[in-house]
Amino acid sequence: MDITTTYMGLSLKNPIIVGASPLTASFDSIKKLEESGAAAVVLHSIFEEQINHEAHELDYFLFKGSESYAEALGYFPEVALSNIESDHYLDEIRHLKENVSIPIIASLNGVSKGGWINYARKLEQAGADALELNITYIPTDADVDARAVEQLYIDALSAVKANVAIPVSVKMNAVFSAPAQMAARLVDAGAEALVLFDRPVHVDIDLENLNALQVIRPSSSRDLSETLRWSAILYKKVNASLCASTGIHTHEDILKAMMSGADAVQMVSSLLKLGEGHIATVLDNLTAWMALKEYESIEQMKGSISLAHTANPAAYQRANYMRLLTDYRY
Ligand SMILES: Cc1cc2nc3c(=O)[nH]c(=O)nc-3n(C[C@H](O)[C@H](O)[C@H](O)COP(=O)(O)O)c2cc1C
Repeated sequence: MDITTTYMGLSLKNPIIVGASPLTASFDSIKKLEESGAAAVVLHSIFEEQINHEAHELDYFLFKGSESYAEALGYFPEVALSNIESDHYLDEIRHLKENVSIPIIASLNGVSKGGWINYARKLEQAGADALELNITYIPTDADVDARAVEQLYIDALSAVKANVAIPVSVKMNAVFSAPAQMAARLVDAGAEALVLFDRPVHVDIDLENLNALQVIRPSSSRDLSETLRWSAILYKKVNASLCASTGIHTHEDILKAMMSGADAVQMVSSLLKLGEGHIATVLDNLTAWMALKEYESIEQMKGSISLAHTANPAAYQRANYMRLLTDYRY
């Protein structure tokens, strides 16, 4: 049985990539992930603030107003602004390339058009096989329109692409007004892959201290819905690989993602909960299911239940929505 796949030009032995997280922040952990069967890893992100220690580099912002600027500075985790981290990240890549055989995808996390973009070239020179770009911006300014926000993403991607020859993916968030068009624009700007989707840090309120909080909430398979929807919609609509991320916990989740049109998946929360060994279990279950249902390859199932091919396109659209809500019985 053939469970290999191709993701943004990288040949993967199976569809499981471990996503950017603490799991991919140490050599020992990455080695264990490889031993357990991971086909590739996305390293924990290097943030633009860790690359540019002069804060004024962030001053590119589209929204140069002082309020947005302060927001942008406050958005990222507080990190010691020093080049030590960025040098260390490059050393990590070099060490990994000498000691593991699976592809290493570096993760660059930034939003401005500052000097951090040039760092992309250093990632390539250190040996990264590909680059995942996480551009996260929270547009709180009501005077800034959607087109301007979208342009920020396109500009950052274009600048990175101008610096590297390795494949570049964009880890999208799901909250664009027109995600299909945004996806197409990112691909036009050079993205070889789209990761659907990033999982936002959640907001909560601490009632004891009467304060707003940011929290990380692990996902579950129930969070897979938007990933399935947009993989299914974008399959064959954009000329780029699709990677399902958020809510991939089991072999069933992977099968659903592939059938919707994904070329690969990323796993994080499930591995944080169950350990690296969970990859081997998922792969065993995946091949057992495929054997039972007489699938010969992953390729055979890709996109088979995408919007382009499903017998029930209404599931991905508005069509059934009213009936579903009005027919609901409790
Ligand atoms: C503790 C933790 C740290 C993370 N760090 C990063 C990061 O550095 N860069 C990034 O792009 N995503 C980061 N993520 C997001 C994950 O890569 C992934 O997109 C998200 O957890 C959804 O996948 P999941 O449903 O398998 O958890 C992090 C997630 C967690 C839980």
